Amino acid sequence: MGIKVNNVSYTYQKKASTATLALNDVSLEIYDNDFVALVGETGSGKSTLVQCFNGLIIPDNGEIVVDDFIVSYKNRKSRRLKNLRKRVGLVFQFPEYQLFEETVEKDVAFGVKNFGLKGEAALEKAHQALDLVGLDSSYYQRPPFELSGGEKRKVAIAGVLVIEPDILVFDEPTAGLDPESSKELMALITKLHEQGKTIIVVTHDMDLVNTYAKRVLMLDHGKLVFSGTPNALFNHIQNYDRLDVPLLIKVAKKLKEKGMDLPVEGIHTIDDLLTYIKKWRENHV
Ligand SMILES: Nc1ncnc2c1ncn2[C@@H]1O[C@H](COP(=O)(O)OP(=O)(O)OP(=O)(O)O)[C@@H](O)[C@H]1O
Ligand SMILES: [Mg+2]
Repeated sequence: MGIKVNNVSYTYQKKASTATLALNDVSLEIYDNDFVALVGETGSGKSTLVQCFNGLIIPDNGEIVVDDFIVSYKNRKSRRLKNLRKRVGLVFQFPEYQLFEETVEKDVAFGVKNFGLKGEAALEKAHQALDLVGLDSSYYQRPPFELSGGEKRKVAIAGVLVIEPDILVFDEPTAGLDPESSKELMALITKLHEQGKTIIVVTHDMDLVNTYAKRVLMLDHGKLVFSGTPNALFNHIQNYDRLDVPLLIKVAKKLKEKGMDLPVEGIHTIDDLLTYIKKWRENHV
């Protein structure tokens, strides 16, 4: 399942003198089973845009089309919008702040209760979702506040997965996690992608973009200013002070400048780079 965004604009605090045009005539498309990174400087409109994807924010102008749902000002009162949240699951930044039930399993089950599943059936779904994020039955009865930061985030993500959405949006999923937990979380997101989910990740982390994303979209002051592959982005962002090209790509480009014949666009991990260097050496000694 994909998302089509047609000429979407949104202003916060429309009537106040502090009115902010957060999205300015944005049009883009996200395809079925895509893996898209959404990047841009702080305040560029990323979180606002992803909240439009499941109807939490209704655009002032334009529309978002997901399957047979249309999110638009005209449709803002539609009761069907609630069901859109079954299709598009949104994991907020620092989702662990929203854990509130007394046990892990109840917290995760809360998501499906909103959609009519009750009692044992809801708990069953919760256990499946916890299994998916790698938390076993020893966690079911524990109070969420006792868990580590990484574990809390897994519980919060399970609370979205439990609804089984086709499209998953993660707003800064690795922010504040240690490298090990970040890696684990990205492995989970990759697994969900391989299972056929459409993935959208909002991030400032260009290494993450390089390693995982198929496509990148970039916002700047509420406007879409780039859409393309990660490698094309790294050629483009030389002009942006606050977005940095990954070190891996800088090294690969330097080696290429020095005469090593490397396909920079094919290098997504350190292992990729090492493989190419090895090959090059075999051909040159
Ligand atoms: N609730 C709000 N009320 C008023 N203005 C807001 C609100 N939320 C966001 N804004 C403003 O809208 C613009 C876009 O904000 P948004 O949070 O979408 O940016 P972002 O790209 O997600 O930034 P960050 O990288 O810091 O998370 C910013 O100028 C921000 O100050
Ligand atoms: Mg944000």
